[in-house]
Amino acid sequence: MARDKKRDFRSNKPIYAHIVGWGMRVPRSVLTNKDLAAIIDTSDIWIQSRTGIRERRIADEDETTARLGLFAAKQALAITDILPQEIDLIIVATSTPENIFPSTASLIQHWLGANNAGAFDLSAACSGFVYGVDMAAQAIRSGSIQTALVIGAETMSRVLDWQDRATCILFGDGAGAVVLQARETPGGLLSSVLRSDGAGYDLLGLPTYCGMDVRSTDGLREPKLHKMYMAGGEVFKFATRVIGESIKQATKEAGITLKDIKLIIPHQANERIIQAAARSLNLSDDLFMSNLAHYGNTSAASIPIALYEAVEQRRINAGDYIIFVGFGGGLTWAATVIQWTVSQPGDQVVNRRQERKRRAGYALVNVRVMMRKWQKRIARLFSILSRRNE
Ligand code: UT7
Repeated sequence: MARDKKRDFRSNKPIYAHIVGWGMRVPRSVLTNKDLAAIIDTSDIWIQSRTGIRERRIADEDETTARLGLFAAKQALAITDILPQEIDLIIVATSTPENIFPSTASLIQHWLGANNAGAFDLSAACSGFVYGVDMAAQAIRSGSIQTALVIGAETMSRVLDWQDRATCILFGDGAGAVVLQARETPGGLLSSVLRSDGAGYDLLGLPTYCGMDVRSTDGLREPKLHKMYMAGGEVFKFATRVIGESIKQATKEAGITLKDIKLIIPHQANERIIQAAARSLNLSDDLFMSNLAHYGNTSAASIPIALYEAVEQRRINAGDYIIFVGFGGGLTWAATVIQWTVSQPGDQVVNRRQERKRRAGYALVNVRVMMRKWQKRIARLFSILSRRNE
């Protein structure tokens, strides 16, 4: 079905990539600054005054990166009333994938029953979601696909060094997702700025077995395998510089001015970074979406989670120009201007038949996953028994 529709878009008319669905999922457990102060040498006052963070969500064992991403994706599909089979491409931006491979995106593709979709993970740290949105939009605008699902999902708590108080207090877990779709109506993604400066590779990272000698800049602390490290002060300076620069460039390329912007949704790293960026652009803090008090820094998930809450709070309306701006490990940074074109969730009519179809599809996948698990268990049991009998 999706294949046939695609042919209609192979005309000479320009194609625009619009965000038509959005979703989020955060873990159940809340870890407050007070809770943290009970386990490491810190205080609620220090964390709040230096970062603006009050609490963050921490994933339980069953709340993996893929499962959080899956629930955010299901919500995004429900909002826009799209069936998983209509998705052509799934991109998961993450620094905490389930595995190096297979990709978290493939797992989500399977669990959704998105049988017509390609899927891959994207590694650009906290800028990853903006990179993913741009990649998906370019594929849509080229006419090669019609519908894409872009997810930012993280379980940062699993890779934090809980003895490093300058870093572990900052991060939290969660996932956000958007559905992008081809339309002939002008709007959607208007411009993007994607950048990297690998010279700063040792300022922020997560070493794996395959890595070379990565040292923190102070030269005193050796990074630990599979634990995140960060030279906070350096990253702070970098972030405040690139947010302003990339926003200016993206607005210029979109043919609009800063005055036209309704809302800027920055990567949620530190309230002081957001305030410094606002000052450098001569803009009011109110123009910047901030929800980091409740979730901390959820890396690639922070922008889609903030987007979801901004829509819920009715801070974005059809016709508005908004900006996503991300920055992080790599070093990488990215900004994109989007003209929002859809109405509010409450204003959309959900087709009950489609909803039933989606639910039935998810139930069928769940049954298949369960059956596969049992098949494996039984096969293992048989192999143990036959070895005993030999
Ligand atoms: O998503 C990736 C992007 N990441 C970021 O954007 C993070 C950017 N960096 C930051 O947000 C800030 O640099 C931090 C929040 C990480 C640190 O804030 P800061 O104002 O730069 O503090 P600092 O590192 O200069 O440390 C100041 C003092 C130090 O003590 P001394 O040496 O002055 O005695 C630290 O040991 O604060 C101390 N400190 C703490 N004290 C209580 C560091 N962490 C803590 C803590 N609680 N958790």
